Amino acid sequence: MGGVDLVVVGRALVGGSLVEAAVAVENGRIVGVTSPALAPPAEEVVELGAKRLLLPGMVDLHVHMREPGLEHKEDWRTGSMAAARGGVTCVFDMPNNRPPTNTCERVREKISRARSKSLVDFGVYAGYNPQPAELERCSSEFFGFKLYPDDLYSSGAEEVFRLAAKLRKPVLVHAEDPSRFRPSPLHSEARPPEAELSAARRAVELAALTGAWLHLTHVSTAAVLREASAARVALDITLDATPHHALLNESLYRGPLASIARVNPPLRGEEDREAVYESLRKGVVDAVVTDHAPHQLEEKLSQDPPPGFPGLELALHLLLREVLEGRMPLSVLELYSSRPAALAGLRKGRIAPGFDADLVVVEMREWVVKGSELVSKAKYTPFEGVKLRTATAATYVRGLLVYHEGVFAEKAVGMLVSGGG
Ligand code: NCD
Ligand code: ZN
Ligand code: ZN
Repeated sequence: MGGVDLVVVGRALVGGSLVEAAVAVENGRIVGVTSPALAPPAEEVVELGAKRLLLPGMVDLHVHMREPGLEHKEDWRTGSMAAARGGVTCVFDMPNNRPPTNTCERVREKISRARSKSLVDFGVYAGYNPQPAELERCSSEFFGFKLYPDDLYSSGAEEVFRLAAKLRKPVLVHAEDPSRFRPSPLHSEARPPEAELSAARRAVELAALTGAWLHLTHVSTAAVLREASAARVALDITLDATPHHALLNESLYRGPLASIARVNPPLRGEEDREAVYESLRKGVVDAVVTDHAPHQLEEKLSQDPPPGFPGLELALHLLLREVLEGRMPLSVLELYSSRPAALAGLRKGRIAPGFDADLVVVEMREWVVKGSELVSKAKYTPFEGVKLRTATAATYVRGLLVYHEGVFAEKAVGMLVSGGG
């Protein structure tokens, strides 16, 4: 008896490299990272062995858990199971619920549902409200604002940026200009790259006008990466990109996965895909996000499939495949852990003393992705058939084991993490 609550011994990602370490955990926090020989006594000792690695829990700034209102697509239990199985210990949930999460009452309703069901920690965004001042009284309860394509061109968009500047919160923008959409059977032609550039320019103008922190989410084109990188020299602009825009291209829209792969912004041509890939490889973007956007399989196979697909279970392992096959540096993992955590002002995403004990045990094991085996309610993926080299063996949220070898904890331990700012 005595000592710390837990010590994990084995190869761990510490300060940018993999080292033999003992990670000591007490009261949900990491209290020591030492060589194994210097490990403190502990109630429980976990030895990883040769085929396992310890990583910090991943932090995903852009997911759709769908509850309240769209629980047939996903809910806080199944969505957080997908997160835990993917090694993601903190998610930030988008406001396009039914009804949209754009008042304090609705923000609080979502938080209380997440508290009662989520296995992982969470933050939430507030959606577009033409009178955003309503949201000021609960500003400590949401991380930032989210604007969809139509919101950005609504009369109240500037007001949202002004309030965000006052509250020092980010405005996340899905940049696509609906006036640039055109009818085409090919999804990537119906919503062309110019639509993203046009909307990104409008968002940058609003950021310049108001001084607000603009975060462009799921950036998918070379042009926007270039212009945003130039604009951020003078303005407070951050960017994220998804694994699907980095790894898949529009050729999927000509094959059997066309409906499954339908997503906004669309998968792009090879040049844009490569630019997104390079932005991850070089750490030009600030974060990787999944945009986990589950819909029912029947909806996806209908005449008019909704855009989006699940991503939380695969993102970390897709990144690790790139690393293990030598195409990306290990530091790409920072884009899905320490860097988004720092953007959100959280002591998460790093294996270091004082940080939350959000830990992921990754096992070296080859497996083939099958949509039907996902724990999300959305049992399909555009990555169908892809061979991965790693799997999540266990996931801890603040020292609590929420996932272990296919089994999920019963208890919802997820907590609201941040009002941000
Ligand atoms: C998202 C969804 O389904 O909510 N769909 C998508 O294609 N990305 C909405 C969004 O993030 O734009
Ligand atoms: Zn979007
Ligand atoms: Zn989204």
